[in-house]
This record gives sequence, C-alpha cells and structure tokens, in this order.
Amino acid sequence: MSKTTTRRIAALPGDGIGPEVMRAALEILTAIGERFDLSFEVREGLIGGAAYELHQEHFPEETQTLIANCDAILFGSVGGPIEESTAEKWRDCEKNSLLGLRQRCCFHANFRPARVYQALQERCPLKKSIIGEGIDLLIVRELLGDLYFGTHETKEEAGVRVARDEARYTEEEIRRIAHTAFRAAQQRKKQLTSVDKANVLDTSKLWRAVMEEVGTVYPDVSLAHMLVDNCAMQLVQNPGQFDTIVTSNMFGDILSDTAAVLPGSLGLTPSASFNEKGFGMYEPSGGSAPDIAGQGVANPTAQILCVALLLRYSFGLDEEAKTIETAVEGVLDDGFRTADIACTGEVAISTAAFAAEVRKRILRTS
Ligand code: IPM
Ligand code: MN
Repeated sequence: MSKTTTRRIAALPGDGIGPEVMRAALEILTAIGERFDLSFEVREGLIGGAAYELHQEHFPEETQTLIANCDAILFGSVGGPIEESTAEKWRDCEKNSLLGLRQRCCFHANFRPARVYQALQERCPLKKSIIGEGIDLLIVRELLGDLYFGTHETKEEAGVRVARDEARYTEEEIRRIAHTAFRAAQQRKKQLTSVDKANVLDTSKLWRAVMEEVGTVYPDVSLAHMLVDNCAMQLVQNPGQFDTIVTSNMFGDILSDTAAVLPGSLGLTPSASFNEKGFGMYEPSGGSAPDIAGQGVANPTAQILCVALLLRYSFGLDEEAKTIETAVEGVLDDGFRTADIACTGEVAISTAAFAAEVRKRILRTS
C-alpha cells in the first residue's frame, strides 16, 4: 500500500464502554494520520446489543456488508449487564456477535498477548519475585475448531436430559494454526510452547503430532509441549518462562483469561484475529464493563493498542504502530492512571484525558 492509499477501517464500537474507548482510539488513529500524512477512512457499524436495538439481530446484514468492504476491523466490546442476560437484547449477544464475526471472516487465529509494563508492576497480581525479569508472552489460540464448532446437542434419553458437545479438529485446521504460531514465534524469542491434553484426548494427540511435523519447517524455533493443567499452573507460578503459546480453541479461551489478568487490568491488553488471507480484526481483551459504561472513566489503553496492532498487521505500518506503543508507555511512565490502574492515593484521570496524553506524545506537542 502506498502512502496515498486510503485505508478503510470498519469500527464496531458495540456496547458498554465500547463507544467511549473507541472514540479515544479513533482520536489516536487521527493523530497518526496527521503525523505520518496517512489517510484512513473509518466507517462505523452496529454490533451486539447496539445492533439489536435497531435490527433485532446482534450481527445484522448491514454490518456484514460493511466488513466485507473494509481492509480491517476495529472492534469495541459487546454484551450487557449480567443481571439482564436473559433479556432478549442481551441473550447470546457475545456468542452471536463474536462467533458470527469469526465464522463470517474465517478468523482461524487469535493473538492474545500479555505483558507486564515496568511502570505497572505493582498492579500485577503476582509477587515481584515471580514477575522476575518481566512477563511478555503471546497466546496464539485456534479460533474455528474444537468444542466451539463441533455438533452441539441436548436431548432426552430414557427420561434423562443429556447434552453433548463435540470436540473436532482436522489435521488441516491444526496445520494452519501451527504455521501461524511458528511464524509468530519467529518474530519473538523463537520459543513455542504447544499446549494440549494429549494424555487423554485424541484431538490433542493429533494436535501434538501435527505440531511436531510443522516444526520441522521452522528449525529456528524451539518447540515444547505442555499439558493444559500444568500450563494453567505455570502461568501463575512462572509466567516468565513463556514466549509464544499455541493452543486449541477451548484451552485458549481459558488460558488467555488467566494471562489477561497478569498486566494488572483487563483494560490494558489488545488482541487480534486473522484469517488465512491476513485480514484482521482487533479487539480489547476485556469486556464491555457495563458497570462503568458512560462515565468516561474506562481505560482506553487496550483499544488504543488495538489501533497499533491494526496498523502493524493489516497495513504493515510498523513505525506508526511503535509510535503508539511508545506513546502509551510514556503516558504510563509519566504516572498517568485511569481508575482501574490507579493505586490508593493516586489521582485517576478520565478516558478522554488519558487519550489526550497519548495524542500529545504522538504529535509531540508537549
Ligand atoms: C472470548 C469470549 C468468547 C469465546 C465468547 C463470548 C463466545 O469469551 O473471546 O474469549 O469464548 O471465545
Ligand atoms: Mn473468553
């Protein structure tokens, strides 16, 4: 893509804090456009409860058309308050929106990084002795197979209710995520840990065998295998040992939530999903946080860092991405805190004020 190309981004703010952190992130995108003389075309679409209000659907046709005609998706968050989860507007909202998007765009890979910022070590729930040299890991989660997309069934057998969910992987699906993960590890410290339950599950035995096969194509990356129960333990006991982790859909869902709390707040970490063509969607790791929505206090860091990932992975704009990451780190180093990461006695600033600090550093106006 040349400098003058207009890059089309579909912004799907969604529910809860989604719209306010999206606003902050789009300001950062504008600042990058100004500083680097780049042009972005942002089109907003409805998703989740916000879409349901107008279309009685969580992932309406209109949004499907929008994303079919863009170069990347910037996603906010979806879902409503737990106490209203049975209301029609919110029932299956996350599932319909997220699984709909994943299936529609064939997002087979999900990158969920977790790092502990120097300035926020105090906020990590682990002891300093465990954090050690620091934590900087990436979970690569397979996103289109396993228990999520196998057959689901609830029936009655001899008067007893029985439910069944099929875990299924083809070797092609495993090979596809294996290549993605090995390539991701190549960009990092070249240490890949494949996580499975090969002492019990057939899907895991196949997973392990295919990981080994694909590993021969990447001799520069060291591959280790770990059982998922051990990995859950190691993520808490010694997370510094991990560089890149690759795992199945279900295990990845669980392990990535464990990793997501390490930075100290769910508002800090971006994530990305990709299909085989490299088309990507960027989404904060945390949810819609309806309890603090609309108050202007949410941490916009994850959504802002999503913009950095979008620029890097969808548009190859690495310098621009680094500029955002450095600016965010600068803001944290200078002691600015939103409420979720402020320690007792520290003054918390608003979503907009935090974004303004990031913007200033990008535009070097102070
Ligand atoms: C996530 C979410 C989704 C998942 C749910 C909402 C379907 O928990 O993105 O991790 O399980 O993948
Ligand atoms: Mn999850």
